Amino acid sequence: MITRIRRNRKYPWMRDLFANHEIKAKDLILPIFLIEGINIEQKIDSLPGVSRFSVDLAIKEIQTAISLGIKAIILFPVIEQGLKSNDAIEATNENNLICRAVKAFKNEYGDKIGIICDVALDPYTSHGHDGIIDNEGYVLNDETVEILCEQALCLAKAGCHVIAPSDMMDGRVAAIREILDRNGFINVSIMSYAAKYASSFYNPFRNAVGSDSNLKKADKKGYQLDYRNNKEHFREVYQDEKEGCDMIIIKPAMLYLDILQSVSNNINLPIIAYQVSAEYAMLKFASLNNSFDFMDAMIESLTSCKRAGADAIICYAAIEVAKYVNKVI
Ligand code: PBG
Repeated sequence: MITRIRRNRKYPWMRDLFANHEIKAKDLILPIFLIEGINIEQKIDSLPGVSRFSVDLAIKEIQTAISLGIKAIILFPVIEQGLKSNDAIEATNENNLICRAVKAFKNEYGDKIGIICDVALDPYTSHGHDGIIDNEGYVLNDETVEILCEQALCLAKAGCHVIAPSDMMDGRVAAIREILDRNGFINVSIMSYAAKYASSFYNPFRNAVGSDSNLKKADKKGYQLDYRNNKEHFREVYQDEKEGCDMIIIKPAMLYLDILQSVSNNINLPIIAYQVSAEYAMLKFASLNNSFDFMDAMIESLTSCKRAGADAIICYAAIEVAKYVNKVI
């Protein structure tokens, strides 16, 4: 007798019946870049298919997301150069762009879609780092955490559901949990970027939010993880869990599936994979050059994240993917 493993792959119905993993709209988190103004959509050259939206147009984009079954959005503000400073004070302004946006979205949609807000100072600093720096350019940990706490409190007051600290400072999860609880926001969740690597794959994002020109040639290796390591992320993940985070992000995604898998094997918190800007851009640009069909490659890539243990995925193509899978399935 010949063992015929292919027999189980003969018909589409059979393959569908036995498929372990599948991407659904409900698995996706939609990132939204926000800008000042009314009725403005700016296409982002480094991320074809992605735009920056003024708050009124973002409201329409969110309506589309809700109607497609997407469950959450994650927000990134583009801050005018004139409002950036060394101490990132605009981050703690209760009437800044992101707070106004959150209030508007909450007012429109209540709890119909999850509102996640990134917490880090890079949109607000004149030097583009995620924290404040000393004279040598070193990102100061404890001083930064204090500002992050104020920033998180502003966002909670504005009505966001989830605070997502992406700054990689030590002790920030506990400090944010403490200030949220002390102010009565006991049910505002913390989604920590627990394992976030210093990566070139964030460049299109930095271009989209306009922090690249501030950051110039500087890098974030003094606080984000070293991609040569495959153990130190456990220290980060366990520490964030101990400090009280509710869910964790692994980032980037496609190049870090080993990290994702290892966390999924060892941690019981919900895990979110972040398919970052250049991972999206690689697929988009390659498909524009006819290397493959964009949606085929995107779905394969997102499925690999689920296979490695992601419960949800932050994806710049969330709307396009949701439309596609809603039709196919
Ligand atoms: C801000 C932040 C970054 C990303 C998410 N939040 C950039 C960075 O750390 O430099 C990257 C997202 C992406 O590339 O899609 N701290």
